[in-house]
Amino acid sequence: MPRIVFLGPPGAGKGTQAVGAARELGVPHLSTGDLLRAAVQDGSALGREAEAHMRAGHLVPDDLVVRMVAERIGRADCDGGYLLDGFPRTLAQAEILEGIAPTDRVVSFEIPEALLKDRLTGRRQCPKCRTVYNVSTKPPKVSGICDLDGEALAQRSDDRAEAVRTRLEVYRTETEPLLALYKRRGILVPLDAVGSPEEVTGRIRRLLAEMPTHRRR
Ligand code: AP5
Repeated sequence: MPRIVFLGPPGAGKGTQAVGAARELGVPHLSTGDLLRAAVQDGSALGREAEAHMRAGHLVPDDLVVRMVAERIGRADCDGGYLLDGFPRTLAQAEILEGIAPTDRVVSFEIPEALLKDRLTGRRQCPKCRTVYNVSTKPPKVSGICDLDGEALAQRSDDRAEAVRTRLEVYRTETEPLLALYKRRGILVPLDAVGSPEEVTGRIRRLLAEMPTHRRR
């Protein structure tokens, strides 16, 4: 039963890689960023509370995120494991997650900060099918238009330069300390996240194949 966490700074490529990795493992991909953005779009109580924090690049308060994740992990499709992308992000979240179910492996996306700003400010997303592009590293065939459904691509409000600065700072202060925690617990697996998306996918495949909980689809 693989219970995997993808941990890394904003823009490291967690979301890009998590989709295929979850498919490979046969488990759901749970992105707290995606779940929160869906709540904002729905205008739910959670979304209304989360929106201002997200727009500014700050973390959403632990109690809100933890409740959302606990509810999601409690559903039947997570009985066989899951791949968490973007959670936990604070020491408090990490401790609560361990209380819900022990994590098998934490894949740490390692990448110099200098590469992250361009990845983030260049990211564009289709508001309809959620496909992620990048103006320099993964441009759509027609500038600004989704290849799959012809929708106009959008930039995330927190991918503007000022929010990106805040997110990187928040990562350093709130999330980076988790690396030492998981290293001490012996479940941290470092991943070189520099290189093309295909190169990183190849490295992740090899890491996952070596995990004791892996069952190939
Ligand atoms: P979230 O959506 O989780 O944002 P994030 O962690 O900042 O991660 P990103 O989605 O920015 O980056 P990524 O690593 O997934 O990169 P991607 O693959 O898209 O969270 C958003 C907000 O929600 C947070 O700021 C917070 O407010 C709130 N939140 C979420 N979880 C929370 C929690 N647990 N607690 C509290 N608050 C929480 O790639 C980025 C770009 O790079 C793309 O354009 C992509 O095409 C490109 N790219 C990807 N890989 C490569 C590559 N190898 N080479 C070149 N380009 C690449």
